[in-house]
Amino acid sequence: MCPPRILKPDLKPVTVATLQEMKRRGEKIVVLTAYDALTAEMLDEVGIDVLLVGDSSGMVFAGYETTLPVEMEHMIYHIQAVRRGAKRALVVGDMPFLSYQPSLRDAIANAGKFLKAGAQAVKLEGGREVFEIAKALVGFGIPVMGHLGLTPQSINKFGGYRVRGRGKDEARELEDGALALQQAGCFSIVLEKVPYELARRITTRLQIPTIGIGAGPYCDGQVLVVDDMLGRFEKFVSRFVKRYAELAKITKEACARYRDDVKSGKFPTLEHSFSSKKK
Ligand code: KIV
Repeated sequence: MCPPRILKPDLKPVTVATLQEMKRRGEKIVVLTAYDALTAEMLDEVGIDVLLVGDSSGMVFAGYETTLPVEMEHMIYHIQAVRRGAKRALVVGDMPFLSYQPSLRDAIANAGKFLKAGAQAVKLEGGREVFEIAKALVGFGIPVMGHLGLTPQSINKFGGYRVRGRGKDEARELEDGALALQQAGCFSIVLEKVPYELARRITTRLQIPTIGIGAGPYCDGQVLVVDDMLGRFEKFVSRFVKRYAELAKITKEACARYRDDVKSGKFPTLEHSFSSKKK
């Protein structure tokens, strides 16, 4: 098997305008989540177009059961780290639960904090219900990515992580929501865990790019949680995840070897030590 090409992408930074242009050209948009500088640097180096500092950090980084406990301070810390690692990719900050819902004032102040921390855009969950919020943010120069379908911040409303938009009413609501977000000025929309037929219809109807996750092959781009596709997050694996590595296994094996070496005195040796005599 041929090793994958490590791109040396041209360093022209990706902007929201680049993504519109990619949709027009039919070029797929590649998105991954990132929460730390080291990962951001690697993803940037191989040409990932957008780094989403997702509130999924609450589950994969911090170990919460849901994304609901994530706070602004957590996200700002991750955004600052990712910003330091990213040179070319567009950095999008995911606004945590209750950082934008209470009032326009909260939404603007908190989205502004994300931009000051280094994000170039923010992401919000919801359809028609966030129309005014998205419109106000865009009006103040804050680019907004929408998020429809399975919206993890509403887990308690839906009672689980099932596919959204299978029934007629729910499909219509999602399609209307997508059009509303476009009208509000969003520059793209994440479609999570929706039937591919619906995702294709929405993608065709919109001028702005759709980014799928569990939404089939017809979206303008694709996002995955980086720890899912690298096989680091083992609590559950969704059907929509393709694993490109088994890092949990590799990490555990390496750490077990280290444990054995230290216990048995195999490591450290003098090879990894300093002498009082300078060589
Ligand atoms: O928080 C996140 O990582 C997300 C993606 C799964 C789209 O919202």
